[in-house]
Amino acid sequence: MDIQNLLDDIVGSIKPHIGQGEVAGYIPELGSVRADHFGISVATGDGEVFSSGDSEMAFSIQSISKVYALALVLAGDGDRIWKRVFREPSGNPFNSLVQLEHEDGIPRNPFINAGALVVTDRLLSVSQDASTAVRDLLRTESGNGSIQIDSIVADSEARNSNRNASLAHFLASCGNLDNPVEEVLDAYISQCSLAMSCTDLALASRFLARNGLRADGTALLSPAQTKRINAVMLTCGTYDAAGEFAYRVGLPGKSGVGGGIIAVVPNNCTICVWSPGLGRSGNSVAGVAALDEFTTRTGLSIF
Ligand code: DON
Repeated sequence: MDIQNLLDDIVGSIKPHIGQGEVAGYIPELGSVRADHFGISVATGDGEVFSSGDSEMAFSIQSISKVYALALVLAGDGDRIWKRVFREPSGNPFNSLVQLEHEDGIPRNPFINAGALVVTDRLLSVSQDASTAVRDLLRTESGNGSIQIDSIVADSEARNSNRNASLAHFLASCGNLDNPVEEVLDAYISQCSLAMSCTDLALASRFLARNGLRADGTALLSPAQTKRINAVMLTCGTYDAAGEFAYRVGLPGKSGVGGGIIAVVPNNCTICVWSPGLGRSGNSVAGVAALDEFTTRTGLSIF
């Protein structure tokens, strides 16, 4: 299989989908990104990279950051987090408030916003500076030391964070935050505002395709922990479209409202796609279509 030809082909065949969907407008700075970008990168287990389209252009990783925050918490603190967050699909939008009250302040999973706030709270407790810990992991694993938090995006989200503030205050009222609400929100918004390219993200995610091994060959996670993160990505990584994503793509994946999606082929490679137009559940329309085409044509799915 000539991966480079395949990616170039996908850039061509995906054109009708580019610009479909809506660019995230509830974070105004994200709303100003042009809708017609598309990039794709594949990183193999041994670090070879194939890419096409706007693969080197940095975009806001948003909820994709939730994967790395969870990985750091599991790596540094073991299974304790699972007492504070479930691992069931929510079937609800990523920023929904309703389920949290019914379920006494224990979020359905670590990838909806409520669950990610709890994970970031724990990361604050175990690392002091949570967003720097996420940034440094991503810098080291991608080999790109210039990855930064985009402070304009962070300020834009901070000025429009009433829903996440509601979730955080409710979590605190249930005793499910250890740190002050403002600190948790600030760290969460900062990690979401990291700016990275498809190539950066594909490289930085390789530990998920390598049984937890970092780029330097040391273990970030055990194989069992890596299996569990991939399983939660498959069932919860694309929110109330996780069933459709599994049906179409057949891989663990995690999306962000910046339009990026990472997907993992265990023991093989990682794929990152980016296109800012989002479907109803907040997942990139062209990105999902490209991953569907990639796994359908290569047979590289877990099923
Ligand atoms: O908290 C938010 O709403 C954003 N910072 C992240 C949401 C997100 O990326 C959902 N993913 N598709």
